[in-house]
Amino acid sequence: MITNITKSNEFNLQLDFKQVIYALSDSLDFVGVDEIHHGKRVGIMAQECAKTMGMSEAQSKHVFEIGLLHDCGVSSTRVHQHLVSEFDWSSSQIHCDTGFELLNSVEFFRPMAMPIKYHHTHWQLLQDLDIDEKIKEYANIIYLADRVDVLGAAHYGKDILAAKEEIRRIVSEKSGEYFAPHINEAFWEASQKQAFWLSLTPEHIMHFMQNLSNERNSKLISPEELMEIALLFSKIVDTKSPFTMEHSFGVAKISRYLAEKLNLSKEVLYKIEIAGLLHDLGKLKIPDEILEKTDKLTENERGIIQIHSFETYEILSNITGLEDIARWAAYHHERADGKGYPFQINKDNLEIESKIIAASDVFQALVQNRPYRPALSIPEALVILNEMVIDGSLDSEIVKIISENSIECHELAFQR
Ligand SMILES: [Fe+2]
Ligand SMILES: [Fe+2]
Ligand SMILES: [Fe+2]
Repeated sequence: MITNITKSNEFNLQLDFKQVIYALSDSLDFVGVDEIHHGKRVGIMAQECAKTMGMSEAQSKHVFEIGLLHDCGVSSTRVHQHLVSEFDWSSSQIHCDTGFELLNSVEFFRPMAMPIKYHHTHWQLLQDLDIDEKIKEYANIIYLADRVDVLGAAHYGKDILAAKEEIRRIVSEKSGEYFAPHINEAFWEASQKQAFWLSLTPEHIMHFMQNLSNERNSKLISPEELMEIALLFSKIVDTKSPFTMEHSFGVAKISRYLAEKLNLSKEVLYKIEIAGLLHDLGKLKIPDEILEKTDKLTENERGIIQIHSFETYEILSNITGLEDIARWAAYHHERADGKGYPFQINKDNLEIESKIIAASDVFQALVQNRPYRPALSIPEALVILNEMVIDGSLDSEIVKIISENSIECHELAFQR
């Protein structure tokens, strides 16, 4: 439930839909850890098949966007591994249902929800379902492109042209059973061209995305819509681990509350809530085993965890109009004494909004269960927050407000 959304007429924030979606879809591709372009490749291939089938420009673009988001129901790197290493994994429907639930909750993603629900359903079953024929086609195109990508992943940028005939043969053998014959035919035709495969290499994908982002003809999204999208992505991040459930949402709520206490403007209240929701986007790249480790982390593992706030910056700074939100979100591990990470911002350049998110982040994490310790009580958490003020990592004024309103902050930490 979203509360207290600042109305769009109170300030001017208009964002480009495409930029927002393309940037945020990067975080979904992070779940592949070292294999980070899966969603984009599926989108590009699916779009090519749709065009070859004679679908309109708008329908083909829609298929591309479904491809970008098709695996939004997966935030666990372990689950992702199954999906990309097994051609037909028996538990694959779970992420399809999760993706459906997520997208169905946001109005303008709703048209993508049904195709994503069925993007691992065999054509043999799909063709008899009582759903719109176009949805079946979209779902099955994504399924085919997704499975092609699983077969191609080890070959892009290496020997994809040598591997392409074998991939085409394996996929075409599934025609009629897994994939609709007419969709398989379109794939067969489109994938004959070498360019189909060469466009899937990392450097070409970046070029492709850049060109798309530069097209400035997409719809604009309002602050209310941005809030819904941020909420959706925060759920994806928070469901990565049972230990981080509610984390981003709690940080967003506490941050907004503290900003209110500090009499910051309505625009800041809105933006800090968005920044709180998105501050850990980069965590999607951390392997589950590291995030859930109960023993002491090695130096290398700590390094891998520390990359996440830099990744958050990389994603959000791609969105024109979100520059301040990108800073506030990504600087949540910076410290007033300049010893934080990853930018080592010094206190003169650390904005109050970043300091608010930093303190909220620590408080929410302390009062929540972690793999290596149970949740701390409010007094125990406050002791640690005050120690962090003394050692220069948190802001004294902000920690004072948390201490004076600790019951409220604790409630907000677990609000849903
Ligand atoms: Fe999938
Ligand atoms: Fe996939
Ligand atoms: Fe973080």
